[in-house]
Amino acid sequence: MSKEKIALFTIFGGTGDLAQRKLYPSLFKLYQKGYLQEHFAVIGTARRPWTNEHYHGVITDSLASLNADPAMVAKFADHFYYQSHDVTDAQHYITLKKLSEKLDAQYGLEGNRIFYLAMAPNFFGTIAQHLRSENILTPNGFNRVIIEKPFGHDFESAKELNDQLTATFNEDQIYRIDHYLGKEMIQNISAIRFGNNIWESLWNNRYISNIQVTLSEKLGVEERAVYYDNSGALRDMVQNHILQILSLLTMDQPVEFTEKDIDVEKVKALRSLRPLKPEEVATNFVRGQYGADGDVQAYRNEDKINPDSNTDSFVAGKIMIDNFRWSGVPFYVRTGKRLADKFTRIDVVFKRPIVNIFNHDDVRANDDADAHLAPNVLTINVEPTEGVELQMNAKNVGQGFATTPVKLNFAHDSAATANSPEAYERLLHDALNGDATNFTHWKEVAYSWKFVDVIQKYWDEHTPDFPNYRPGSMGPTASDELLAKDGHEWVYKS
Ligand SMILES: NC(=O)c1ccc[n+]([C@@H]2O[C@H](COP(=O)([O-])OP(=O)(O)OC[C@H]3O[C@@H](n4cnc5c(N)ncnc54)[C@H](OP(=O)(O)O)[C@@H]3O)[C@@H](O)[C@H]2O)c1
Repeated sequence: MSKEKIALFTIFGGTGDLAQRKLYPSLFKLYQKGYLQEHFAVIGTARRPWTNEHYHGVITDSLASLNADPAMVAKFADHFYYQSHDVTDAQHYITLKKLSEKLDAQYGLEGNRIFYLAMAPNFFGTIAQHLRSENILTPNGFNRVIIEKPFGHDFESAKELNDQLTATFNEDQIYRIDHYLGKEMIQNISAIRFGNNIWESLWNNRYISNIQVTLSEKLGVEERAVYYDNSGALRDMVQNHILQILSLLTMDQPVEFTEKDIDVEKVKALRSLRPLKPEEVATNFVRGQYGADGDVQAYRNEDKINPDSNTDSFVAGKIMIDNFRWSGVPFYVRTGKRLADKFTRIDVVFKRPIVNIFNHDDVRANDDADAHLAPNVLTINVEPTEGVELQMNAKNVGQGFATTPVKLNFAHDSAATANSPEAYERLLHDALNGDATNFTHWKEVAYSWKFVDVIQKYWDEHTPDFPNYRPGSMGPTASDELLAKDGHEWVYKS
């Protein structure tokens, strides 16, 4: 059976950064692998008046780093059409409809349409409304819309945005991108958990002490300054990526590994997050903003950042989940900019053995922490290394029975990683297949915002003492204290 997928892509924001850096290379990789062949076409739209020829040059340039066969690149680029289009101008949708119908007939696209909104979210409602009013959706094929984060800036705005989208599209036609869900090791969480009896049997509050999720960035705000200063780390990373990862780590086993069954379990997990009361925010969440250090300037001095900004470039938090499985287990999460390194990792810290028979007397005599056995830690390395590490105790070589922590290590080999699809390629492929498993569903978005809104509101009402961390560190000391007061510590320390 042919693996070819048949569709017309319409990319709103076709001249933008996301389209050029991620979408065109990902579509090309799907083309190289045969998922896209003859029966696909792409309409790129934006306001600037490009010609098709110029657009083909942009497509070719966006693929430069792939070192692909120029003849293949040229053949691929021939499937691209540029349409100058202001999304707020109703007239432009008439032209778009004509071009869509022409390409549908020319390439035999069977009425299958994917609309990719690679633009600021304040345009989503207008685009969706015009797609419906100008009859650009087809009655015979599939119609799917892919949208980017941010999905609102709080629950109310997210709901408004969702209402606008659902006036045109059903929930099962809406593909909300969270590109972390396209990452190899995030997808691997379910395989590790539900494919291995040893883990799933221990995956609860009887055996797990705490779970840590770290999304660490080395760079500052770079070109996203304006957006970021209005958002901050809590909204930009916790509401979406971190809570999505948490839902995959904590959900119960789905009946089947299907989109619907997984969504049911993720929603249950997110509904079980213990909501914080405003007075609990300060003790459970830490915010930070970096100062200057050497050549690195302070957040407030970065280009296009408000010099009085109180935006959080770092957040760490303790999250509790109120259900039978997780009661009593703290989930510590943290993310920030200008930290020690760029990486994403998950550390599952197991409870220590109750008795250390190897240093039994020391433990009983003075409760010496060093005399306890080290906990087992299962680390899921998401990026840049992709793999799994397990810390366990083993006997030191030689005489005596002193123990030492050793590590079992698995990392994907570099050849497998090089061939593994990037997040956007995977997600575009899923959208072509009509599989929204690795996209965010509305109820998940809604519960995530409700959890985060309490924290943001408390922060907005209280002035922070910023800056409070040094670039190159792992955030403010209060982040370490958050764990220390529970008798825990971050597994990864800079
Ligand atoms: N870039 C990333 O890596 C990234 C990552 C995650 C999420 N996102 C999200 O993806 C979306 C796009 O981001 P981006 O970085 O690609 O932004 P961008 O580079 O600023 O691109 C915005 C696009 O919108 C077009 N546009 C603006 N106003 C328009 C109008 N009235 N009518 C038609 N087209 C219009 C612009 O083209 P013209 O000026 O020619 O009209 C441009 O193509 C945003 O929602 C962003 O938050 C981006």
